[in-house]
Amino acid sequence: MSLTVLPSATGAVDDAEAILGRQAARESAARTYARSLPIVPVRARGMTVEGADGRRYLDCLSGAGTLALGHNHPVVLQAVRGLLDSGAPLHILDLATPVKDAFTTELFASLPEEFARDARIQFCGPAGTDAVEAALKLVRTATGRGGLLAFTGGYHGMTAGALAAGGDVDARAGLGGTAREPVRLPYPYDYRCPFGVGGPQGARIAARWTASLLDDPKGGVEPAAGMIVEAVQGEGGVIPAPDEWLREMRRISSAHGVPLIVDEVQTGVGRTGAFWAVQHSGIVPDVMVVSKAVGGSLPLAAIVYRGELDVWEPGAHAGTFRGNQLAMAAGGATLRFVREEGLAERAAQLGERMLTRLRALRCLLPVMGDVRGRGLMIGVEIVDPQADPDPLGARPAAPALAAAIREEALRRGLIIELGGRRSAVLRLLPPLTMTDEEAETVLDRLGEAIHAASAAGRPGEAARPAAVARPAAARPAVAAPREGASRRDIPRQDTPR
Ligand SMILES: Cc1ncc(COP(=O)(O)O)c(C=O)c1O
Repeated sequence: MSLTVLPSATGAVDDAEAILGRQAARESAARTYARSLPIVPVRARGMTVEGADGRRYLDCLSGAGTLALGHNHPVVLQAVRGLLDSGAPLHILDLATPVKDAFTTELFASLPEEFARDARIQFCGPAGTDAVEAALKLVRTATGRGGLLAFTGGYHGMTAGALAAGGDVDARAGLGGTAREPVRLPYPYDYRCPFGVGGPQGARIAARWTASLLDDPKGGVEPAAGMIVEAVQGEGGVIPAPDEWLREMRRISSAHGVPLIVDEVQTGVGRTGAFWAVQHSGIVPDVMVVSKAVGGSLPLAAIVYRGELDVWEPGAHAGTFRGNQLAMAAGGATLRFVREEGLAERAAQLGERMLTRLRALRCLLPVMGDVRGRGLMIGVEIVDPQADPDPLGARPAAPALAAAIREEALRRGLIIELGGRRSAVLRLLPPLTMTDEEAETVLDRLGEAIHAASAAGRPGEAARPAAVARPAAARPAVAAPREGASRRDIPRQDTPR
């Protein structure tokens, strides 16, 4: 394969394979995306990423949900350039600046009004996990309690407290109990209902279990400092919480005087079809954790919380990197653009259309066990169609097949990632600026990839389902076609599950 040669930073000539080879030799064994996506991006615009080998990819990972406006959006670039040219300081600890003031004003304007009215903000170290740590410290300080209520399947980051709050025991294995274990409560998961019931009834039982556990004086649960929850679990497998269940969590936590922390790190800034995911249910949290898209592609994280909780001492949560001016400029511009252009509404509509088409595809491709999501946070759970279903009809997860689909998607010029309990959920997190045509191309490529990977595992099943096949002339000669072609051969009629 011939590769485009690029000048490296040192002036030497490198190619993509050499760069990948040096990465493998030099970088940590803990590297993640770099393993499943062996490409060397050199340019990116919107949802298109161009690799050093000249191939183009449609990026449905978006920096793990960070790039609400896609790569290098003009309003983001303008905000960054404007700050660079202005002579303003780039690093200034947590001092007040006009840039920070404008960012905070824009952020507060985006929050539910009742919450914003009396809110405080604490800027944290630059990652989502730093803000989660701050949230835990805040509620522990304010309540004088130590315990935490957290949910099955939750993900809140990789530092000690955030890791403990998450549901992934593998991620904590071997760390010797670095942080206090939370009380684990059931998160509704319709497809694999922990109570074997599913639907609204499954969610009602999950809420009832939480209520009874906290009400029971001999239930073994100490009064907690906080309850931490995602309105849509991302890493847990793209699982939207029913609005009614979330309202119940609000009611129960209030009844017990437990501050409710909603982790909006991944769901915020229009991603789920509302500016903030809490707005679907109408609940008002006590603490909101924000990061990813709020920095407009650059690192920024904060907690926003009710003024009443603001009882920690000066310096209680210090940190050198709490004043990232470039991120505040980029983030402020992003928040404004999402608001002015109605991109949350756009995400709701486009997401619904994509879900409809994916559900139709599911009827043709039985490896697609479940299709779910909210807005432009979409998941497809891949299962083994040969295995026996459970009483609710769900078949066992098929992580190896999901990984093969990710690989086939990459070959077709589509970047997706996996998530979920057993890494068997294909996750789509495209930018909110994705065009209709791009959305169609994403679904075409995804359908092709799912079909190719599932047929590859079964000799004799080379025939493509008619609805997935497209006319030979429209099929790309190379694995990763240039963007732009619109193919509309996957049916778009909704078909009930
Ligand atoms: C809901 C949620 N909380 C917290 C985090 C941690 O953010 P970071 O990776 O920036 O530390 C993530 C990351 O994916 C997340 O999805």
